[in-house]
Amino acid sequence: MSLGFSGDVAEFYAEYRRGYPPEVIEVLRETFALTPDDTALDLGCGTGQLTLPLAARVGHVVGLDPEPDMLRLARRTAERHGVANALWVLGADTDVPALGALLGPRRPALAAIGQALHWMRHEQLFAGLSALLRTGGGVAVVANGAPAWQQDSAWSRALRGVLEEHFGTELKDSCGTAARDRERYAAALAAAGFTDVRHTEIRYAETLTFDRLVGGVCSAVPEDLLPAPEDRPAFAEYIRRALPPADTFTEDVRVSVLTGRIAAPDTGTAPRTGTDTAAPRP
Ligand SMILES: C[S@@+](CC[C@H](N)C(=O)[O-])C[C@H]1O[C@@H](n2cnc3c(N)ncnc32)[C@H](O)[C@@H]1O
Repeated sequence: MSLGFSGDVAEFYAEYRRGYPPEVIEVLRETFALTPDDTALDLGCGTGQLTLPLAARVGHVVGLDPEPDMLRLARRTAERHGVANALWVLGADTDVPALGALLGPRRPALAAIGQALHWMRHEQLFAGLSALLRTGGGVAVVANGAPAWQQDSAWSRALRGVLEEHFGTELKDSCGTAARDRERYAAALAAAGFTDVRHTEIRYAETLTFDRLVGGVCSAVPEDLLPAPEDRPAFAEYIRRALPPADTFTEDVRVSVLTGRIAAPDTGTAPRTGTDTAAPRP
């Protein structure tokens, strides 16, 4: 069964989906004391938005995804950037125990899940990861900000209206980016035995051209609903007419990083929860 991330959608994803600012990788490095001796897992890696910057901070990174087209493009981007320490594995969250068995005593430091946990059975996944990751390591659930059509701006509301009209459906799904999702995931991390469950927000403004805005929309449309190539200029024009007249569109991006750590045995570390907010990027 296709998850909708194949074919041209994967191409749009690789080309237009925003990556993660360096501050996100820095939070992961600091929280889990990542070193060049470590292995990190990126579950639901897509076209490598998190995997590739992580690769620069650890010895090895494994990008796992059930969609072959996403993995193929992740590998292509890695090759283009000379990233040689990434391994791309076709698989799903349910394959994590088998992956752990393969890694053996080389316990991964980190399992990162970027914008993908809503596809997974997170309680089972966290339970499996709590037995797999090294002490001081842990899980990071990263949500890459609200979709372009769910932000608090006139152009975003106009975009939402025109997309709802085109697809004939209300666009309510937060894809795991809402505060209520984060609260559920935080509770599940604590229930699975992770400690120091914390939330950090990294907020910045990103200005998009119209082409990048439409490319980002196309990266989020399931493949069977994506307009055919010959219909895409008309689709773009239909959106263009609905938006306020402007050359660029500024997004308020709030990346959410929820982390939970594996405590050392018998340290008596009291579970701690909290929220940090990083300063907006200039
Ligand atoms: C929205 S993309 C996120 C890609 C990338 N991590 C990012 O941050 O942009 C979601 C990815 O999750 C993958 N996915 C869907 N179900 C999955 C599952 N059960 N286990 C692992 N990955 C899954 C999809 O194939 C897709 O590549």
